[in-house]
Amino acid sequence: MAGLFEPLQLGDIAVANRIVMAPMTRSRAGANAVPTEVMVEYYRQRASAGLIVAEGIAPSRHGIGYCRTPGIYSAEQVDGWRRVTGAVHAAGGHIVAQLMHCGRVGSHLNKAADAETVAPSAVRAAGKIYTDAAGMQELDMPRALALEEIPGVIDEYVVATRNALAAGFDGVELHCTSGYLPMQFMATNSNLRTDAYGGFVTNRVRFVVEALEAMAGVAGGGRVGFRICPGNPFNDVLDPDPAVTYEALLSRVTGLKLAYLHVVRSPLKHFDTFGFARGHFAGPLILNDGFDGTSAAEALAEGRGAAVSFGRHFIGNPDLVRRLREGLPLAGFDLKTLYTPGPAGYTDYPCAPA
Ligand SMILES: Cc1cc2nc3c(=O)[nH]c(=O)nc-3n(C[C@H](O)[C@H](O)[C@H](O)COP(=O)(O)O)c2cc1C
Repeated sequence: MAGLFEPLQLGDIAVANRIVMAPMTRSRAGANAVPTEVMVEYYRQRASAGLIVAEGIAPSRHGIGYCRTPGIYSAEQVDGWRRVTGAVHAAGGHIVAQLMHCGRVGSHLNKAADAETVAPSAVRAAGKIYTDAAGMQELDMPRALALEEIPGVIDEYVVATRNALAAGFDGVELHCTSGYLPMQFMATNSNLRTDAYGGFVTNRVRFVVEALEAMAGVAGGGRVGFRICPGNPFNDVLDPDPAVTYEALLSRVTGLKLAYLHVVRSPLKHFDTFGFARGHFAGPLILNDGFDGTSAAEALAEGRGAAVSFGRHFIGNPDLVRRLREGLPLAGFDLKTLYTPGPAGYTDYPCAPA
């Protein structure tokens, strides 16, 4: 296990160990998508992770898809996040903001009255989404972004990056998987555009490349990471040839010298995701999906990545780092309270006894 506890440099971010907390939407934000006190406590409890990737955070009101999810586009939100980052830093940790624009995956019932559901094309994703107002609803029919609107959407990531730094985050991570806006541009079934952002693979990756360039322009490449999962069909996206898509994407961002690539194992059998990422991205890799302490330590020892992120294990184990170091048993968690408001099933999971 020793390798997990070695310090690491992720671009400009120096972290104390190689155990990363994966981003997890937990729907605990308050009115106007503002972080709440219970979120401050939740992240403070988990600050022994070398790096926390905070839950998906909307860069604009249009980017919100799910109920009670936070944003980083208003002064009130920035103030709320400053309390979160302050608590994590006071406990010795580091934290980056995951910028998540949901695009067509959302319901207007979860957004501000003046927010829109936009996407590369006017193609509705198959699926339903929970809303506090009316329970399960069909996903919205999105409005296709006009070509001249796209710089404005990229600018939302610029503003969000600037706000994240102002809020004390150590960096930002572009959420580029799970069928949200960046992946909607890359996928062939959600992007039917015939302009510079659609069609050939070089066009389909353009939005993501421009978003990363813009974010790096604000924060410096060493404070920007991004998250991919080649071939992930979640939220009704289709990519018939992920190897081609991600080679095109990764080759275009090499020059940005990004802090890390957060790579989630592909659901496609026979696709060696980590090997592929290693071959096409020169910087540090954070590996994800399905790891426990033993398999994580093995992956690091084999040189497959620089760090490993854990999602579900961090839900019920705020002291996951200590439990792995001391070989203590890991607790489970309650599925019913994953997305419910308040502290139950969120900040009430205890640390292991001393
Ligand atoms: C409750 C929950 C919420 C999640 N929300 C996000 C999210 O906001 N952004 C994201 O990129 N992944 C999200 N994920 C995926 C996790 O980051 C991670 O990839 C997944 O849990 C697999 O890692 P694990 O096997 O260590 O749990 C979420 C997962 C869970 C369980």
